[in-house]
Amino acid sequence: MDKKIKRIGVLTSGGDAPGMNAAVRSVAKSAIHFGMECVGIRRGWQGLINSDFVILNNDAVRHIIGRGGTILYTARSEEFMTEKGREKAVGTCKVLGLDGIIAIGGDGTFRGALELSRLGVPVMGIPATIDNDIGCSNYTIGFDTACNTAIDCIDKLRDTMQSHERCSVVEVMGRHAGFLALYVGIAVGATCVLIPEHEVNFEEDVVQRIQNARLSGITNFTVVVAEGAGSAIEYGKKIHEALGLDPRVTVLGHIQRGGAPTGRDRETATRMGYYAVRAFAEGRSGSVICTQNGSITEIPIEEALAMKKNLPMIRYEILEAISAPSMPK
Ligand code: F6P
Repeated sequence: MDKKIKRIGVLTSGGDAPGMNAAVRSVAKSAIHFGMECVGIRRGWQGLINSDFVILNNDAVRHIIGRGGTILYTARSEEFMTEKGREKAVGTCKVLGLDGIIAIGGDGTFRGALELSRLGVPVMGIPATIDNDIGCSNYTIGFDTACNTAIDCIDKLRDTMQSHERCSVVEVMGRHAGFLALYVGIAVGATCVLIPEHEVNFEEDVVQRIQNARLSGITNFTVVVAEGAGSAIEYGKKIHEALGLDPRVTVLGHIQRGGAPTGRDRETATRMGYYAVRAFAEGRSGSVICTQNGSITEIPIEEALAMKKNLPMIRYEILEAISAPSMPK
């Protein structure tokens, strides 16, 4: 990158995640630190097409580090998928004098960033999604907060399930990945967790585990279902048919995307924002800021998009060993 970056844009795109505001704040403040101006692009890539912006000075990002959601709004843009839409976005960069764009979001956001970079706009990506399903980064902003929200909800459900000696079937988000479900399932001591990464054998993974729990004296059961592993409502019906229980089903839904970000999400978002701006300041672009084994690195977007991250199945093994183990024969 030859041109010195003087003004940058920052946007949030795709599903929101707690900690996005902390990342926006860090980008804005880091830009000021490195002698740049920062412009917030509202409503994701669509906002870049529509020239929908707000100046992000120190005042604009005051007190947002602990706020859920994103002050920049977010959207999924059909128009940006078209060449014409992207050309309009490049036009906005020219008109606003944006020398680079920092895009905060998931894989879809980074695919958009890659397309824009191919049209000559320097870009950097910051991973933020409650699903933690971005291959290049061990951690994505928002995951910790979403886990804690789901854990808090399931703890509350357990109170009433315990009183009534019931079975609770809880569906958590995660799109096609089971990171959120498995982490949460371990943390709440679930009877069983159903995730897309493990083919569900209903008899072994659900029926027998509930029976084992019952035989060990437990009279309330928690079944955590990742949305990618099927519908909690359907599993509730199957549990009723197989065991004669009368389960209560809860789909946690978008509540998992809200709330004040945890310390981990604020801190990670702040570090990632700084690294993204520093890359621009030092003349680099075209990468996603990732966490790898505890440190932060930059991975070229194309490579980052091709990377796969496997759910550590040892965690599933631990869940199986600890929750509802079978009685010694
Ligand atoms: O990617 C984040 C996520 O919350 C997924 O867990 C979920 O499948 C999806 O977004 C829901 O999307 P929407 O906000 O469009 O309902």
